[in-house]
Amino acid sequence: MRKNIVAGNWKMNKTLQEGVALATELKSIVKNPNCDVIVGTPFIHLATVAELLKGSPIAVAAENCADHASGAYTGEVSAAMVKSTGASYVIIGHSERRAYYGETYAILKEKVQLALANGLRPIFCVGEVKEEREAGRQNEVVKAQLEGSLFGLTAEEFAKVVIAYEPVWAIGTGLTATPEQAQEMHSHIRGLVAAKYGREIADGCSILYGGSCNAKNAASLFANPDIDGGLIGGASLKAEDFKAIIDAF
Ligand code: PGA
Repeated sequence: MRKNIVAGNWKMNKTLQEGVALATELKSIVKNPNCDVIVGTPFIHLATVAELLKGSPIAVAAENCADHASGAYTGEVSAAMVKSTGASYVIIGHSERRAYYGETYAILKEKVQLALANGLRPIFCVGEVKEEREAGRQNEVVKAQLEGSLFGLTAEEFAKVVIAYEPVWAIGTGLTATPEQAQEMHSHIRGLVAAKYGREIADGCSILYGGSCNAKNAASLFANPDIDGGLIGGASLKAEDFKAIIDAF
């Protein structure tokens, strides 16, 4: 059956030294988690943090990767480079990347393909903005995001993808989707995956919730049948906060 996962997304926070301190603390307090645990760090932290967390139950993710394999793309970091640091996951399609860096469905499709080709598991983010939810369009928005970037994958490739539903209106705002709203969307996503790839793949697909998930609300979110964990921003920046969310499983 599918795995439960709690993944942190540090975003553009923590110097290298601060990141090492946080990872060191996590390593010492996360011993036998009841779920898979991942920390998503800035590129420059990856190699150091991956080395530090070797032999611990905590895996490492990049927060992005390039949409080209290699070459003259100044400032970019390829999926192969990410893999070479010891990271095993990469967050792709976060709403901040879509909104601030113009990442289109087509660009994200390239990134997903390059991640998989280089042995990284994508944590692929989807989610609607406030106006779309208010107009009742959230289901079609998320469907278009999945179809636009993921549904060209083979079943074998898709089986390696983790999905994160992150309603944009809930990210960093303190407004969390209710467990009912989140469950409804997660069930919708699983239904779309089943229609495309079959029931077995859909049942094996981990679908995480993200958006102001914290120690207080994690347990009520994770209690739902289609919510397989969380992608955690703000509450992943302090070891004890993140640990409390892991302990919700
Ligand atoms: P948040 O961010 O937990 O701070 O709302 C979640 C995310 O953007 O992944």
